[in-house]
Amino acid sequence: MIKHTPPMGWNSWNTYGPNINEKLIKETADAMVDTGLLAAGYEYLVIDDCWSERQRDENGRIVPSKEKFPNGMKAVADYVHSKGLKFGMYSCAGNYTCAVYPGSFEFEFIDAATFAEWGVDYLKYDYCFRPYWQKGHILYKRMGHALANCGRDILFSACSWGVDETHKWIKETGAHMWRSTGDIVDTWKSIKELALKQVELQPYNGQGCFNDMDMLVVGMYGKGNVALDGCTDEEYRTHFSLWAFLNSPLMIGCDVRNMSDATKEILTNRDIIALNQDPAGRQPYLADNNTNIMTWVKSLEGGDIAIGFFNLTDNNQCPWIPFDNFGINRSANKALQLTNLWTGEDIGVYKDIYRAPVMLPHTCMVLRGKLVDAK
Ligand code: GLA
Repeated sequence: MIKHTPPMGWNSWNTYGPNINEKLIKETADAMVDTGLLAAGYEYLVIDDCWSERQRDENGRIVPSKEKFPNGMKAVADYVHSKGLKFGMYSCAGNYTCAVYPGSFEFEFIDAATFAEWGVDYLKYDYCFRPYWQKGHILYKRMGHALANCGRDILFSACSWGVDETHKWIKETGAHMWRSTGDIVDTWKSIKELALKQVELQPYNGQGCFNDMDMLVVGMYGKGNVALDGCTDEEYRTHFSLWAFLNSPLMIGCDVRNMSDATKEILTNRDIIALNQDPAGRQPYLADNNTNIMTWVKSLEGGDIAIGFFNLTDNNQCPWIPFDNFGINRSANKALQLTNLWTGEDIGVYKDIYRAPVMLPHTCMVLRGKLVDAK
């Protein structure tokens, strides 16, 4: 499998942590279809940690929790598939998962075969309780080989949090995405920290193996497993826009059975999702000299140019961007016809520079520009 665009879906961890079961997963699958999330591109439903028994069976096979998943995982996978979704699961490169359930170390091929048998399409692979004498790249290569030979196309989602210089070796392992950050929590501070950390790691992002900035906290509002203070809708909008602009996988983490209208509107904004899923898959880059505002630019399929202003400060800001910062010089005699992707508004044709109106703290402005002849 080659992934040309960042994976999109839902993961159980952010809201539910260990409190997962067959009923919840089925209801989530229903909601992903009924609320239009699947239609918007969110195709993977992923069960994170805490789904198994604490012990393997006598043949060394991992066993789903009898209490949480009484009908086994094949039944869950079948249900998820029947809704038109793909099914994801979780394991770990160490002896145990982060919540101390059996990990796949020394069981890589058995586990990959088991996942294939159940109909798994996606494996998130964590990094807790790993043997310290073994190098990280070998641990991920072991599972990479097992998945590549299991007879089923399984997306490999590596989760070593960017430690041990993951960026230097992860593309060798067969991973289709890799966690380039530590764990997100539902606060503005966490969103900002993860975004800043991506600046130096962005050159390692690319088609086939995407930098994963961790699951989204949009719509959690301070409730659930990784909830702390919660964020405002404006902050969630900025968070979603950043993850989308930076080509991160978009894995929803809220309770999709009970989304607010604002949450639904943020998560299903097709123009923002289109930036994330742009077929050209170009790397975004920082394009300003203004240290108060993060200004990302990205070239899009068909010649359009995306510009994102992100006010991560606690003050009002008035950002601007000279077009020669991204290679459109005066001599080209071209202008940009700009659309604001959150309001849908055509904001006019600009030559050489665009100056944004006042931006409140923690807000963003995401523009799509079409190159036109200057008048
Ligand atoms: C780690 C991962 C999280 C989640 C938990 C589960 O912390 O980074 O995303 O999977 O483990 O225990």
